[in-house]
Amino acid sequence: MTVRHAGAAGSGRKNPAGPGTATAGAKRTVVKKPGAKKPTAEGTAPKAIGYLHGYSAEERDRLRRQARILEPMVHDRLPFLRRKNMVEIGSGVGAQTEILLRRFPDLHVTCVERNPKQLAEAKRFLGTVPWAKLRYRLAEEDATRLSFPRDSFDSAFLCWILEHVPEPARVLSETRRVLQPGSPIVVNEVLNATFFIDPYSPSTLRYWMAFNDHQIEIGGDPFVGAKLGNLLQTVGFRDVRTEVKTFHFDNRTPGERAEFLAYWSDLLLSGAPELLAAKKVSADVVEGMRRELDRVARDPSSVFFYSFIQAVAIA
Ligand SMILES: C[S@@+](CC[C@H](N)C(=O)[O-])C[C@H]1O[C@@H](n2cnc3c(N)ncnc32)[C@H](O)[C@@H]1O
Repeated sequence: MTVRHAGAAGSGRKNPAGPGTATAGAKRTVVKKPGAKKPTAEGTAPKAIGYLHGYSAEERDRLRRQARILEPMVHDRLPFLRRKNMVEIGSGVGAQTEILLRRFPDLHVTCVERNPKQLAEAKRFLGTVPWAKLRYRLAEEDATRLSFPRDSFDSAFLCWILEHVPEPARVLSETRRVLQPGSPIVVNEVLNATFFIDPYSPSTLRYWMAFNDHQIEIGGDPFVGAKLGNLLQTVGFRDVRTEVKTFHFDNRTPGERAEFLAYWSDLLLSGAPELLAAKKVSADVVEGMRRELDRVARDPSSVFFYSFIQAVAIA
């Protein structure tokens, strides 16, 4: 499959779609992309897509808790030492930005996010983080049609965004276009087929099926993690490596297991309002799942298993 750049007609590392959203200064600004609704290089507007988790205040808090609990796995040994100018695609409420800026003191991060509410919360949150001061900018952009010129950045970070987009190759292709050759990219993505809990929890599994079905229906891909190697290679990244990162909790680590189960329950339930509204699950299934998760949390011999994929490649 050949993937063309969204922002510029043609292929390869071709020139930008339009003017940059901002200069590479350190000012904390929310920058709107001009002409955001114009047709893409293929002459079609990008597909409209839903967002399973929604944009409530609870969801914004959940994203921050999630980033913290997953930090040891997601941010372990990332190749960003000596990097100065990162683009973070799908930056949400700035939860990963805070961690990146803390771990890499030389970094400046440009946060690309299409939802203004997420950006407003990122602005508020990062404004409270002392080490973030003057080290980021916020850009309201669609990741499939970035307005930045080619070669704008020296590193890229993506976390839990590709699962929500209908054309992940297009996002990666655009990201590559704005990266200088030789820049590292890190992509973290879900592989929802790997979820397992014990004791057996049929309502939870029913809910999980509906959760994944719905994500596919609204244009996402709950299994995209397994495809990252292909996707990155297809759009021209080289030295593509993938690592399966697994959470496997049992009686050996009861404290971590309890903490993780609580986080996982929040994650599952974050999709409930949308799944109920779309009539993809019944209230009985949601209630059944709540009871089962409660039982798993109290069972002294419960087991939790889930794997995600982290890919690292070079532009
Ligand atoms: C699950 S959140 C993850 C946020 C952040 N990366 C984190 O780990 O906390 C996914 C974010 O991607 C954003 N997003 C989805 N599609 C996008 C697109 N095409 N362009 C820019 N942002 C997008 C959503 O609005 C949402 O804020």
